Amino acid sequence: MTAAYRHLRVRPEAHGFGAAVTGLRLAEPLAPPVLDEVRRAWTDHSVLCFPDQPLSHAQLEAFTAQIGPFGHDPYATPLEGHPHILEVRREPGETSRRFGATWHSDWSFLETPPAATLLHAKVTPPVGGDTLFADTYRAYESLSPVMRRLLDGLRAIHSPRRSHGSKGDFAKDQGQRAMDLVIGDQAEEARAQPLVRLHPVSRRRALYISPIYTIGIEGMAEEESQPLLDFLFARMLEDRFIYRHRWHPHMLTMWDNRCTIHYADGGYDGHRRVMHRTTVAGEVPMGVQ
Ligand code: SIN
Repeated sequence: MTAAYRHLRVRPEAHGFGAAVTGLRLAEPLAPPVLDEVRRAWTDHSVLCFPDQPLSHAQLEAFTAQIGPFGHDPYATPLEGHPHILEVRREPGETSRRFGATWHSDWSFLETPPAATLLHAKVTPPVGGDTLFADTYRAYESLSPVMRRLLDGLRAIHSPRRSHGSKGDFAKDQGQRAMDLVIGDQAEEARAQPLVRLHPVSRRRALYISPIYTIGIEGMAEEESQPLLDFLFARMLEDRFIYRHRWHPHMLTMWDNRCTIHYADGGYDGHRRVMHRTTVAGEVPMGVQ
């Protein structure tokens, strides 16, 4: 049972995780007790959305820096003059693959993947353009004790090669793109991460894998690892673990990459969508054994 909030209004989403937070202005520096409650709400709900928060670039950067030091964002060119802001933009005429349109936890192949991602809505389409989130704590907790024990000792291999590699999805895509993505052989990089991640604050365990970035399991042949991964992906993406986030202009959403995966949904062809994104540095992912 968590203590009540004194400085914020926190309305949990009906779907089991995620919450809307009101009663504060993100454009101004937050007083320490307010910031503490934002952090607590984030730990409690994993995905926080803050409606009606107009923010300049400088204000988005300043709020992000209050959460923690900026993360490193490879494979996409940031906004000119704002090295920590990525513009997630799609123009009405674009037919190419959407950025973020495969389930993933941001940059999970890095040694220290970002703990938080913040996304601020500038232009939202009149239809579609939702972001879906899956709760990987509850997906893990739903497994049998025997399966959990097996997974607890495994390390999964993560790589950006399927998306950003020279033979990856973005490279195959011939359509025009408003975003400047980095594509090439450097995306052959790969790193083993604990398959079950211990969250450093909540101390809960979460599945730490995703269909686009997880390419295998250390020590297993592909015919062993892929069926296991496919089973786990199907479990993570069951409706009961998914929250569909609808955007409105000036809404800021902050999610925890350590215990969620997300997916940028479509359904808005012919319309513009513009979001500004920052990340907060995380730690080396911690396993449970
Ligand atoms: C992302 O994956 O960071 C982008 C999500 C979105 O555009 O909804």
